[in-house]
Amino acid sequence: GVKPDPLITEIQDWNRYLGDGVDKKPYGVPSKFEKNVIRRDVSWLTASPESSVNFTPLHELDGIITPSGLCFERHHSGVADINPAEHRLMINGLVDKPLVFTMDDIKRMPRMNKVYFLECAANSGMEWRGAQLNGCQFTHGMVHNVMYTGVSLKTLLDEAGLKPNAKWLMLEGADAAAMNRSLPIEKALNDCMLAFAMNGEALRPEQGYPLRAVIPGWEGNLWVKWIRRIEVGDQPWQTREETSKYTDLLADGRSRKHTFVMDAKSVVTNPSPQAPLKHKGRNVLSGLAWSGRGTVKRVDVSMDGGRNWQTARIDGPVFDKSLVRFYVDFDWNGQELMIQSRAMDSTGYVQPTKDELRKVRGVNSIYHNNGIQTWLVRSGGETENVEIG
Ligand code: MTE
Repeated sequence: GVKPDPLITEIQDWNRYLGDGVDKKPYGVPSKFEKNVIRRDVSWLTASPESSVNFTPLHELDGIITPSGLCFERHHSGVADINPAEHRLMINGLVDKPLVFTMDDIKRMPRMNKVYFLECAANSGMEWRGAQLNGCQFTHGMVHNVMYTGVSLKTLLDEAGLKPNAKWLMLEGADAAAMNRSLPIEKALNDCMLAFAMNGEALRPEQGYPLRAVIPGWEGNLWVKWIRRIEVGDQPWQTREETSKYTDLLADGRSRKHTFVMDAKSVVTNPSPQAPLKHKGRNVLSGLAWSGRGTVKRVDVSMDGGRNWQTARIDGPVFDKSLVRFYVDFDWNGQELMIQSRAMDSTGYVQPTKDELRKVRGVNSIYHNNGIQTWLVRSGGETENVEIG
């Protein structure tokens, strides 16, 4: 006969004794069995933890919302520790009336709620010359997707009154880097906001508490955290972050500049190197897709390195400039797989292969690598980051 399963036949402790009462944890934390679900860094990537990055554990998540405590962090001079009562936002430059706002002032203005992805331009940047990091957390984890609550940038700028020659804004942070970037006025007036909340509660310090810029669909570097000043001008400021950094060096030595938009991209999060296949028979392939130009229209998945494609099932809300979740339900009999995903967005743009991307962009770049990722699943289920030549 079949050996009885004690988890069925015997009463377990959690079924026998009272558990913790309410208020044991006034602010909830995940189960102790979820302790692997954490942000991780790659120690050799950067010289110091204050000017560094860690990565969202995409392979441990589902749906489209990134839990606040798992949003990757990227900062140039550490996390600013700001008392919101002492935070000020100044708007100056080419305006009728220079203004200073307190956080209370901002919270009395009309609010909006939006779900957007934020992707660092350097996401997948280590993969330009070939497959390198073993895990979608490391190859694709510089992305997060949360619901923001805040005030539209247009509302704030209207209050100050733009001069006719106002063409660019300079957004500046209150951190030790005083990180700043130039933003074209059309984008600012179109869909940008300053957010004070994420996923229904105050921003986390790592994400810019008490106030950050939200620049939908555009590279993460523009999303200035701990924002303290907006200067209005008639031309870009040529800051470090838009000259020496966040430009794309091409094969012929020229550099692309002001490459703001994050093009359509996708990745299979499961299986992936940190989440190998463990079971023959029924399995769920799962992944994420996004586009900075609109919505994701379709995601195709290949199991054989791009020879044959099937359309994945998108499930959950499909918002503009937000992550979408896709699935392929499949049976695995232990054969080797070469898994790829390819996103198509509402403009008709199709995510390119890495070779197609390199033909246009060369391999000198760090930023804007949205090429198709390949995972090799071996017959034992172990999964590796590979490239198809
Ligand atoms: N804002 C300030 N003030 N200082 C910074 O170092 N880093 C930028 C941007 N905003 C940064 C900043 C970069 S490069 C990115 S990719 C995003 O914040 C990262 O946002 P996150 O930490 O919420 O993931």
